[in-house]
Amino acid sequence: MNRKVSVAPMMDCTDKHERYFLRLISKNILLYTEMVVSEAIDRGDKQKLLSFNIEEKPVALQLGGSSPKLLSNAAKIGEEFGYDEINLNLGCPSKKVQKNKFGACLIKEPNLVADCLIEMQAKTKLPVTVKTRIGYDQVEDYEHLYNFINKLKLTGIKTFIIHARKAILGKFTPKQNLNIPPLKYEMVYKLKEDFKDLEIIINGGINTTDQIKSHLFKTDGVMLGRSVYHSPYLLAEIEKEIYKNENYPSRQEVVEKLIEYLKKEVNKGTRVNQVMRHTLGLFHGQTGSSYWKRYLSENMCVRDADIQKVNHIMDKVKLNNVIQSAGQID
Ligand SMILES: Cc1cc2nc3c(=O)[nH]c(=O)nc-3n(C[C@H](O)[C@H](O)[C@H](O)COP(=O)(O)O)c2cc1C
Repeated sequence: MNRKVSVAPMMDCTDKHERYFLRLISKNILLYTEMVVSEAIDRGDKQKLLSFNIEEKPVALQLGGSSPKLLSNAAKIGEEFGYDEINLNLGCPSKKVQKNKFGACLIKEPNLVADCLIEMQAKTKLPVTVKTRIGYDQVEDYEHLYNFINKLKLTGIKTFIIHARKAILGKFTPKQNLNIPPLKYEMVYKLKEDFKDLEIIINGGINTTDQIKSHLFKTDGVMLGRSVYHSPYLLAEIEKEIYKNENYPSRQEVVEKLIEYLKKEVNKGTRVNQVMRHTLGLFHGQTGSSYWKRYLSENMCVRDADIQKVNHIMDKVKLNNVIQSAGQID
């Protein structure tokens, strides 16, 4: 599996529509689902929670939970659905998540996490990976992080994604936890130095291809979250600069292909907004970007799933004008 560049799991963002859209821009990146809770997979509508488009592959399924039985069952079901990797979330700090004992608070319980990972690996042939943070609350010394990773390594885990900031449990909102604790990339670099046999992926605050290149000198891969969500065409630059692929699509081509997808989805009952809301940032950085955003905001909230309406909204002539205006001055 190529994990050189991946797009982070993000709740309410990296659903199957977003992933389809991102895959249109980049064929090389690895994509992650939003976190799916193992209890939900156990009790809920598996099709609704886990189905995805084959075109999105490779895709990793991120799971949340702390029950070895439920997590291992969920991993097996994920494999049956065709995912390429199973990732365990040990980094989410939200209060709700803590109450249910999963996410970042599990850093405090290495034995339980190890039990989960052992069972998960026993139930699936897919690679099982971990996404975690460098520490929590007052605990952010390197030794603690080293011991935690070492413990999980002994279960057979080979790939660790490290969000290079600690989590403050209970006190900060999830948003504050994504911004306030300082990024400490050095700790992630040191992990790679000390665990040469492990695949260490760095995450947090990475926004440009130059930054990606410099992290790739010290780690095995880079995971980007918000920068790609807000500016998805950054992936085209990643194709060019990181994967040396000159054959990436223009924004116009991306929109054209997406509209084909949109029409199919609307026929199935998906609302236009569910797909197009992810594309607001497609022209980010272009002087005419606001044309695109305005066009979408004014048009994407049609309520009924009427394909005639979609055809009208995405009327080719009008759309071309918008794309040209949005894309002016590259
Ligand atoms: C809206 C949003 C939702 C997120 N949801 C998840 C999630 O479901 N699972 C997870 O492990 N991390 C989640 N994260 C954290 C990201 O995966 C990533 O670790 C974090 O945003 C730092 O990377 P960035 O600075 O490149 O955005 C979320 C972040 C955001 C902004």
